Amino acid sequence: MQYDNPVNYGYFDDKMREYVITRPDTPYPWINYLGCDDFYGLFSNTSGGYCFYRDARMLRLTRYRYNNAPADAGGRYFYICDSSGESKDIWSPSWMPMKSKLDRYECRHGLGYSRISSARNGLFFSQLSFVPLKDNCEIHKITLCNESGTEKNIDMFSFVEFCLWNANDDMTNFQRNYSIGEVEIEGSAIYHKTEYRERRNHYAVWAVNVPVAGFDTDRETFLGLYNGFDHPQTVFTGTANNSIASGWAPIGSHHIKVPLKPGESKTFVFVLGYCENSSDQKWESLYVINKKPAHALLEKYHSEEAADTALAELKEYWDKLLSRFSMQTDDKTLGRMVNVWNQYQCMVTFNMSRSASYFESGIGRGMGFRDSNQDLLGFVHLVPERARTRILDIAATQLPDGSAYHQYQPLTKRGNNDIGSGFNDDPLWLICGVAAYIKETGDYSILDEQVPFDNDETLSDSLFIHLKRSFDFTLNNLGPHGLPLIGRADWNDCLNLNCFSKTPGESFQTTANYESGIAESVLIAGIFTFVGPDYAEICRRTNRKEEAERADKAITDMIKTINTHGWDGNWFLRAYDAMGKKIGSHECEDGQIFIESNGFAVMAGIGINDGRAVTALNAVKEKLDTPYGIVLQQPAYKEYHLELGEISSYPPGYKENAGIFCHNNPWITIAETRIGRGERAFETYKKICPAYREEDSRLRRVEPYAYAQMVAGKDAPRFGEAKNSWLTGTAAWAFVSISQYILGIRPVYDGLLIDPCIPPGMKSFSITRYFRGAVYKITIDNTAGVEKGIGSITMDGKPLDNVILPPKDQGSIHEVLVVMGL
Ligand code: BGC
Ligand code: NOJ
Repeated sequence: MQYDNPVNYGYFDDKMREYVITRPDTPYPWINYLGCDDFYGLFSNTSGGYCFYRDARMLRLTRYRYNNAPADAGGRYFYICDSSGESKDIWSPSWMPMKSKLDRYECRHGLGYSRISSARNGLFFSQLSFVPLKDNCEIHKITLCNESGTEKNIDMFSFVEFCLWNANDDMTNFQRNYSIGEVEIEGSAIYHKTEYRERRNHYAVWAVNVPVAGFDTDRETFLGLYNGFDHPQTVFTGTANNSIASGWAPIGSHHIKVPLKPGESKTFVFVLGYCENSSDQKWESLYVINKKPAHALLEKYHSEEAADTALAELKEYWDKLLSRFSMQTDDKTLGRMVNVWNQYQCMVTFNMSRSASYFESGIGRGMGFRDSNQDLLGFVHLVPERARTRILDIAATQLPDGSAYHQYQPLTKRGNNDIGSGFNDDPLWLICGVAAYIKETGDYSILDEQVPFDNDETLSDSLFIHLKRSFDFTLNNLGPHGLPLIGRADWNDCLNLNCFSKTPGESFQTTANYESGIAESVLIAGIFTFVGPDYAEICRRTNRKEEAERADKAITDMIKTINTHGWDGNWFLRAYDAMGKKIGSHECEDGQIFIESNGFAVMAGIGINDGRAVTALNAVKEKLDTPYGIVLQQPAYKEYHLELGEISSYPPGYKENAGIFCHNNPWITIAETRIGRGERAFETYKKICPAYREEDSRLRRVEPYAYAQMVAGKDAPRFGEAKNSWLTGTAAWAFVSISQYILGIRPVYDGLLIDPCIPPGMKSFSITRYFRGAVYKITIDNTAGVEKGIGSITMDGKPLDNVILPPKDQGSIHEVLVVMGL
């Protein structure tokens, strides 16, 4: 096969809800996520990646080499040795790791599953990989088909390399690791049981549903000490060694003999699973692990039919989820993002937070307090019950003064002491997340849940009190201008105004060696005025009238403060540093204008009545906009600034130093809808939207079906190149911006608000929205060609006198017609 189409690496198959990759040498591995609940796999288009149970750091099943050359090293590999020709033909059907020339290749990434198919010399190979809904394993269903006219003798070898569970130790503590590896073999099942003899109560199993000709479990024996994955010595000799790993690097490899007549095909079901025993049930006999849970798992997926049924269940699960919000539109690109890929990514970010991707190693970051609260925004309509649980978990890590641990560990759910607290925006995101949950569900009972502070049951109080402490945290921590103190950083982790770090390698986030008590954030003020009204409204709706009034007053005061001390003449300032100097002002040499504070101030409605909002958004457009999205600030910092921290550590144009930091672009999109500029709002939406950028794949490099955290800005030599795909708050905010503000179907306390703000050329679209148990089929007619404004709304044929669709009976279906006009 010639990989001769350098621009397009694939296409969207909208009907199947799959992205189809048509050549394996994508500009970067293009991955998918397998798993919905506890067991997850990262899966690239060449079968690279790894899997873990619940925690990518602590319970990793298979090894992966980040930052390796070649890229994407480690995966679930299958090697084919075809002895039917004159000489043996040995190849990798997923292209990597041998980079085999393939006659055909295709990888379909679907919702929670991927399918690689390829062919070479008359042998067709297909690999369907997924994690079933209710079991802790990956299933790899492999089919081989002889498409040639002659009989074939195939030897197939599987290969996975086990990780010794703790992914950090696995890559560092070799003096210990090389002596602890242990395995057991039983028939076609290979058990990885390192550390099971001591404190672990879990093991991994890698099995296939047919008898094997042999196996290997010792990496060196299988590959050869000086060979890479691309030249496994055993596959070249053609016979497995039945090696038993003892220390060093345990692997799992099956050798299967597959004779195939012309036209014949055979299917094998491989299972890679995680099993646990209670501590009194660990052993069958001395040295022999209790395999009961593994037997049950393997028994369940012993047949091809069982694997197919599990896949069908997974598909049904996604059909159901996505039916909760779906759009009918002439714009195919918009449809595929709104209906499938954006919502899918929202699920992935909800599940992973910022832990495991091809840019996040799975060992560094747990669940972020602010990140997880924001991830909820794009997810809560899908599975509100899980959002509810997540909110309570997050709130339990809040500290009694309302501040918050910046991160917590998914397994222990406890705040992470290494990072600690002091990111002064964190508490406000809890209000944002809870408000989104209540607006979606109408479930106020969550406010009465008793939730610990700092995971200490004796410090429990209602969730409402947690919100109050969040709100008050801002008010209790104001600086000289009456703006919120920034602490270690606000949303922008790299604006470290109390850090002053001169030591290479020191963490900008945890070094706070200059507690100025002065550095203030206009962004936190903006967030406060955006989420504060939700706090006030929640108070009102739960009969806390006085508290609501107190909150209203505090918000009004903050708006005044922003207008007095947070306005630079043509845009909103960003911050005051530890010396009280302005950041994000025309007075500055670099960093004169920032995106974040402008987005949030206008989102909160500041300046809408006096023209400042329009002025600020025009400045953003003029100074920060580019064809690939809006950069974070301008001019980029040319030098390292001790008083600013990490933001100025990046070369100009990358990350927070004037990169297109996609997460905050939707804030501008939403702000644009607040001033009624639908055309501009949609333009800002499209610029960072991966499907609209599919043609730029070569430049962008990362997946055209997933948002990236950052696209290099105009100051960078690689302007337009994207990085950090998948685990970014962009997913949630992009979905909020398109679904709630552009298309304008927005959950509010009393129902579903209808408030589209669209380009005048968008003449019609319709949306099916499941909301609090009822289904609304909403048709928007914009024959009038306006950007915003509603002429009339009818529900089930009757005119409505306001723009909020009221909650309706469970299971009822309603037809809504919205005619836009002035
Ligand atoms: C990155 C930020 C990130 C932070 C998390 C920094 O290096 O630039 O985007 O939020 O690390 O610790
Ligand atoms: C990524 C972090 O996960 C997020 O919390 C932060 O807001 C952004 N970077 C911006 O620094």
